[in-house]
Amino acid sequence: KRRIGVLTSGGDAPGMNGAVRAVVRMAIHSECEAYAVFEGYEGLVNGGNMIRQLHWEDVRGWLSRGGTLIGSARSMAFRERAGRLRAAKNMVLRGIDALVVCSLTGADVFRAEWPGLLSDLVAAGELSKEQVEPYKVLNIVGLVGSIDNDMSGTDATIGCYSSLTRICDAVDDVFDTAFSHQRGFVIEVMGRHCGWLALMSAISTGADWLFIPEMPPKDGWEDDMCATITKNRKEQGKRRTIVIVAEGAQDRQLNKISSSTVKDILTQRLGLDTRTTVLGHTQRGGAACAYDRWLSTLQGVEAVRAVLEMKPDSPSPVITIRENKILRTPLMDAVKLTQDVTAKIKAKEFAAAMAERDAEFKE
Ligand code: F6P
Repeated sequence: KRRIGVLTSGGDAPGMNGAVRAVVRMAIHSECEAYAVFEGYEGLVNGGNMIRQLHWEDVRGWLSRGGTLIGSARSMAFRERAGRLRAAKNMVLRGIDALVVCSLTGADVFRAEWPGLLSDLVAAGELSKEQVEPYKVLNIVGLVGSIDNDMSGTDATIGCYSSLTRICDAVDDVFDTAFSHQRGFVIEVMGRHCGWLALMSAISTGADWLFIPEMPPKDGWEDDMCATITKNRKEQGKRRTIVIVAEGAQDRQLNKISSSTVKDILTQRLGLDTRTTVLGHTQRGGAACAYDRWLSTLQGVEAVRAVLEMKPDSPSPVITIRENKILRTPLMDAVKLTQDVTAKIKAKEFAAAMAERDAEFKE
C-alpha cells in the first residue's frame, strides 16, 4: 500500500486538524496508509516515534478542534541540507513517498532536491540502491493554513474565517464598555504583512477608522482620523469609537503605526477616554468555524487526489479556493506572487505609488 505523510508547519490555524483528518481518511479511502509527521518538519528530520500511522478512528472529533493536534515547529534542522538528508532517509525507511504539507515553507525545495538527497544517501552508504529505487520522485502537495489570509492565488486560507469570527466577537464585547463609558477603543489585530483580518473586521463591526499595511494613509492622517471621529461622535451621536489597527500597519514613510500611537493621538487631540486592546493569540486559537471545517475537508480530500494523480514532471500544487471552486495551483507561482506582493508593500517606492493612486482618485 502507498504511504502518504501529512504534516503541519508554521503558525497554527483553526481548520488544520480538519485538513489532517480529511487527508488521513481520504488516504485510507483511496487504499493508502496515512502517516502523521509530528512537530512539522522536525518530525521528518528526527523520525522514530515522530512519524506515526493514523487510522480512521484516530482523527475522530478533529474537525472542530483548534490549533494543530500533530504539532508544529519552526525546524532549524530542516533548513540545513544535513537535516533534509535525515528527513529523506526517514521517509524512505518508513516507505513514504508522498507528503501533504500544511503550510508551504520548504516544500518545493525538498521536492527539487529529493533525487540528489537520495543519491547522497546511497553514496554515503546510508541506504542501498535497491532501497531508494522505488522512491525516485517525491510528491508534495501544499495546503495553506493561515489566519492572515496572506497567500496569493486563493480566496481564503484555512483558518482566516475562524479568526475573523473571533475578532468580530471580541469587538462586539468591547462595544459594551465603549458604549457605556462613551470611550474610544483601539483594537490591534494580527496580520504581519496582510491587512485582510483588519479590513474585514472593520467592515463587519462598523469601525470608525482602519489601518492596514497595504494602504498606508496619506501624510496628515492624524487630522483626517480625528475629524472623522469627531463628526461621528458629535453629528451622528456615536457613543463609542472603534479603530482597528493591523499588526503590520504602516505610514507612507513605512514607519509602523502602532495601536499605542493611535491611542495617544485620540487621547491628546480629542480628549477621548481611549483604551487599547491587543487581541493577540486569542485570534488564532479556538474551534474552527463552519467555513473552515468544510474548506479544510474539501481541500484535504483534493490534496490526496492531487498526490495520487501527480506526474513526475508536474509542478507541486497547492490546493486553493477561487470563486467557491477547489483548485490546484502551481505552488511556486502562489509562493512567488505572495512574496512579490509582500516585497512591494515594504519597498520605498510603495509610498510614491500610493501618491499616484491618490492623484488618480482625485481625477
Ligand atoms: O499566523 C500568522 C500570524 O498570526 C501573524 O499575523 C503574526 O504576526 C504571527 O502569526 C505571530 O506568530 P507567533 O506565534 O510566532 O508570535
